[in-house]
Amino acid sequence: MKQKLQDLKQQFAAEKASIKTPADLEVVENKYLGRKAGLLTNIMKGIKDVAKEEVAEVGTLANETKNYIMSGLEEIKNSLGGGSVHFDFTVPGNKPPIGHLHLATIAMREIEGILEPLGFTRTRHHDVEWDYYAFETLNMPGDHPARDDWETFFIDEAPIKMNLPEKSLKLVKEGRRVLTPHTSSIQVREMEKGVLPIRMMNISKCYRRQIDVSHVPMFHQFEGLVIDKGINITHLKGTVEYFVKKFFGEDRTIRLRPHHFQFTEPSFEIDISCGLCHGTGKLEDGTSCRMCKEGWLELAGAGMVHPNVLKAGGIDPEKYSGFAFGWGVERCYSMKSGLNIDDLRLLYKNDLRFNEQF
Ligand code: DAH
Repeated sequence: MKQKLQDLKQQFAAEKASIKTPADLEVVENKYLGRKAGLLTNIMKGIKDVAKEEVAEVGTLANETKNYIMSGLEEIKNSLGGGSVHFDFTVPGNKPPIGHLHLATIAMREIEGILEPLGFTRTRHHDVEWDYYAFETLNMPGDHPARDDWETFFIDEAPIKMNLPEKSLKLVKEGRRVLTPHTSSIQVREMEKGVLPIRMMNISKCYRRQIDVSHVPMFHQFEGLVIDKGINITHLKGTVEYFVKKFFGEDRTIRLRPHHFQFTEPSFEIDISCGLCHGTGKLEDGTSCRMCKEGWLELAGAGMVHPNVLKAGGIDPEKYSGFAFGWGVERCYSMKSGLNIDDLRLLYKNDLRFNEQF
C-alpha cells in the first residue's frame, strides 16, 4: 500500500502539467480525490488489510499524499485565476436607489408649514365617517339636494346606532357611514371637543366617485377652521391671501367670488391670479391665456361658518363666529407656477418615470 501511495504521488506529479483549464482541473480532482471512485479513495479501501503495526505509518503517508495532491490542485487553481478573487474594498459599493416623498406628501408638508405659524393646529380623524358629520351637521339633512355636490361613497349597510360623544346634539341616533367626501366633516367634531377658540387645520384623504383628468377617487383636501369672538370676513381674506402668497408666490393675488355652500353664509369661491398671464388673461403674443379664465383660476371654497353648523357643534352663534376654507391638495399643487400636470390621475399610477420628476 505504501508503494501504491508513492506511485500515486508520482502519477499526480506527472499529470499536473496537463491541467490547462478549470474543466481539466475538475476532471483531475475527481480522478484522484473523488469520494466514490477516486484513485486515493480506492487505495485507502485497502487499509483494512494492512498489518496493525504499519497502520499508523500508512495513515501518515496517505495524509501526506492527500495534502500533496490538494495543494498541487490549489496551486494550479490559483494560477488559472479561479482561486481567491481579488477584492478591492476601497471601491465604492452599489448604492440602493433611494426614493423621495410623494408629491402629495410634499404638498401637505408645505401647506402645514405655512399654516402652522399662524396658529393652526393639525388634527386627524377617521377616513370612514358618519353621514351625520359629513352632511347632517353641515346643514344638509338627509334629503337635501346639496348633498349631490359630493359624489359620496356610502358604506353598503342599513343605518346603525351611532356612539356620539356626550356633547353632541344627538339630532339623530342611527346613521349611515361614508368614506369621508370632504375635510369639512371634522368641523363639528372639533366643536364638540368644547375648547374655544378653535384654530385648526385638517389635511387628509377624501373619497369621491369620480375619475377623469382633473379628479381621482382618492385625493387629499386641507381645511382651515377658525372660531372665536368677533371673527369676520377680513380674517378669512387675510389668512387666505397670506397662504396664497407663501404657497404660489408673492406676485399672486386673490379675489372672493360669491358662491353657495350649505355650511357657510356668506360663501365664496376663491380665485387666484393666473401665474402664466399674470392676471391679464392675455399672453405676451396677444393670444388668450390657455391656463385661465380672463386672468383668474378657481382655487377653493370658503366662507363664514353657518349659524346652524355652530349650533350643531354646541356653540352659540350669537357669541361666536368663524370662517372656514377647504381645498384640494393635489389640485392646488398642480396649479403652482411652473408645474404643468395635465392629468391628476398620473399622481397615483405609481409610474416612477412620472414620480421621479419632482
Ligand atoms: N368642503 C367643500 C368641498 O369639498 C369645500 C369647502 C367649501 C370647505 C367652503 C369649506 C368651506 O370649509 O367653507 O367642496
